[in-house]
Amino acid sequence: RSKDIPVICIDGPTASGKGTLADEVAQALGYVVLDSGMLYRASGLAAQRAGADLDDGQAVAAIAARLDLHFSRGRVLLGDDDITDALRLETTGLLASKVAAHSEVRHALHQLQLDYRRLPGLVADGRDMGTAIFPDAPLKVFLTASAATRAERRYKQLISKGISASIAGLRQDLEARDLQDKSRKASPLAPAADARELDNSALSIEESKDLVLDWWAQAGSFA
Ligand code: DC
Repeated sequence: RSKDIPVICIDGPTASGKGTLADEVAQALGYVVLDSGMLYRASGLAAQRAGADLDDGQAVAAIAARLDLHFSRGRVLLGDDDITDALRLETTGLLASKVAAHSEVRHALHQLQLDYRRLPGLVADGRDMGTAIFPDAPLKVFLTASAATRAERRYKQLISKGISASIAGLRQDLEARDLQDKSRKASPLAPAADARELDNSALSIEESKDLVLDWWAQAGSFA
């Protein structure tokens, strides 16, 4: 039964380091990873490329329901298009946030996310993993970091790739996206009632990972 397959949820705002933490924890435990933001990003790109009206929840949901995604040698393909680089753009994050506000789109992606729950276990990162998709998960982490810290990390990431950016502009972008994700009606960004909050502003990736692994050991039954 899928309820017997362990899940660790990691939810939180933009650029809080969810993806990195999820990958690290999954690697330590040998678990599968679900990057749910990628599904919303791919849906946004697919809708945009199909020329759909992004304000039309049903139209976008129809596209999200038959996403033709493939993963091959570290690349992500949508149909025949390599969208690996486009997925990471901040404009794509905003596009994802926009289409993710439609309940029809969230519904269209629900089962696909549940399908990631496979043995030996899953680490799922996103905005509503603990509140909507895996409400029975034995460990839910709500990962935060100050807006200043998140903007600075994003800045360093971009600069290291040779992309110029301004910290102030990045901070504005991520705060605008957080506001949109928190204030929507359908599964807004919020900690689950039983989530453990983790502010990683002053922690290294290693320290955050160790903390989550400790919590997982305490959660008991599976570790
Ligand atoms: O985690 P991310 O930056 O890749 O997510 C992109 C957007 O997708 C995010 O701003 C809101 C939406 N999203 C969502 O609504 N629910 C999720 N579980 C994951 C992402």
